[in-house]
Amino acid sequence: MNEKIIEVKELKKHFKTKSGMLHAVDGVNFFINRGETLGLVGESGCGKSTTGRVLLRLIQANSGEVLFHNENILEYSKPDMKKMRKNMQIVFQDPYSCLNPRLTVSEIIAEPLIINKVYKTKDELETRIDELIGRVGLSERLKTSYPHELDGGRRQRVGIARALALNPEFLVLDEPVSALDVCIQAQILNLLKDLQKELGLTYLFIAHNLSVVKHISDRIAVMYLGQIIELTDYKSIFKDPLHPYTQALLSAIPIPKLGVQKERLILRGDVPSPINPAEGCRFAGRCDYSKQNCFEETPKLIESEPGRWVACHYVRQLEQN
Ligand SMILES: Nc1ncnc2c1ncn2[C@@H]1O[C@H](COP(=O)(O)OP(=O)(O)OP(=O)(O)O)[C@@H](O)[C@H]1O
Ligand code: SF4
Ligand SMILES: [Mg+2]
Repeated sequence: MNEKIIEVKELKKHFKTKSGMLHAVDGVNFFINRGETLGLVGESGCGKSTTGRVLLRLIQANSGEVLFHNENILEYSKPDMKKMRKNMQIVFQDPYSCLNPRLTVSEIIAEPLIINKVYKTKDELETRIDELIGRVGLSERLKTSYPHELDGGRRQRVGIARALALNPEFLVLDEPVSALDVCIQAQILNLLKDLQKELGLTYLFIAHNLSVVKHISDRIAVMYLGQIIELTDYKSIFKDPLHPYTQALLSAIPIPKLGVQKERLILRGDVPSPINPAEGCRFAGRCDYSKQNCFEETPKLIESEPGRWVACHYVRQLEQN
C-alpha cells in the first residue's frame, strides 16, 4: 500500500517587496509516497525553489502545513526541527557554490557527520566516508581533492554524498543536473535512480524542463506563478496534458529523433507579475481558451479523473466533485 511520506497543504510563501507582496508560493497542495519521485516543473521564477526551501523549513512559510509522516513540521520547535532535518536533505543545482572551497571532498562529506556526532571513533567516520564515496561512484583518490579540482559531474556527486551522509528518507533535488552537460546529466540521473532503489529514497525533483523530469518522475506537478496547475502520472502528462499551459510547455520540447521542433503553441504575452496578483486564473491573459469568468474566479486544483488533478474552469470534473 502507498504510504505518504510528505504532504503539503495550502502552503504559502509571500515576500514583502517595495512594489507589494510577491506571491512566490500561493496555496500549493501535493503529497509524495514512499519511494516515489514527484517532478516539479515550471518556468523560471514560478516558485519551485521556494516551495522546496519552505518545505524543508530553510525559509519560513506564511501559512499552510507540511506533514512529514503525518506530523506538521511547520509547528516543530527548533530542536525538534534540527533532529528532523537529518531525514530531509537538499541537493542544489550548482554544487560549487554550496561546497566549501577550503575543504577536501572527504572533509565536506564528513562535516554533517561530525556536527551531528554520529560516530565515536575516527575509524568509524572514515569507513562511512569511504562507503558514501563508493555509493556515489567517486574514486577514492579524489578524497583529498578540493571542489575546484573536480568537474561539474563529480562535484554534484560530492553534493549527493553529503546529502546522503545522515541517511535521509526524503531529498529535495533542486535542478541537480541543469548546470551539467547532457551526457553527464544522464549519468547523474541514473545515479539518483539507483540510489533511490537501493536506499528506498523519496524525491521532490525540481526542473524547469519537462524532458529532464520525464526520465525520473513517477508523477509530475506543473507550476505556474506560485500555484500547481496540473498534477498527474508522468505518462498521462506527456500523452494527454489537460491544462492549456501544460500543453504549451510540451509543445516546446523538441522531438530528438527528427531533430525538429513540434508545432508550437504560441504563448501570448509575458508571464504576469507575481506581485499582488489579481483574482482569476493566472494563465488567463495568455490562454487561447479563456472566457470572462477565467478573469474573475481562480480555478481550484480538482481531480478531473482518478489521480489526475487540474486547475482550469473548462476541464471536466469528476462526477463526485
Ligand atoms: N528572498 C526573496 N525575496 C524576494 N523575492 C524572492 C525571494 N526568493 C525568491 N523570490 C521571488 O519568488 C519568486 C519565485 O522564486 P523561485 O526561486 O522559487 O523560482 P524558481 O521557480 O525556482 O525559478 P528558477 O527556475 O529560476 O530557479 C520569484 O519571483 C523570485 O524573484
Ligand atoms: S481557467 Fe480559463 S484561462 Fe485558465 S487555463 Fe482554464 S480556460 Fe485558460
Ligand atoms: Mg529555482
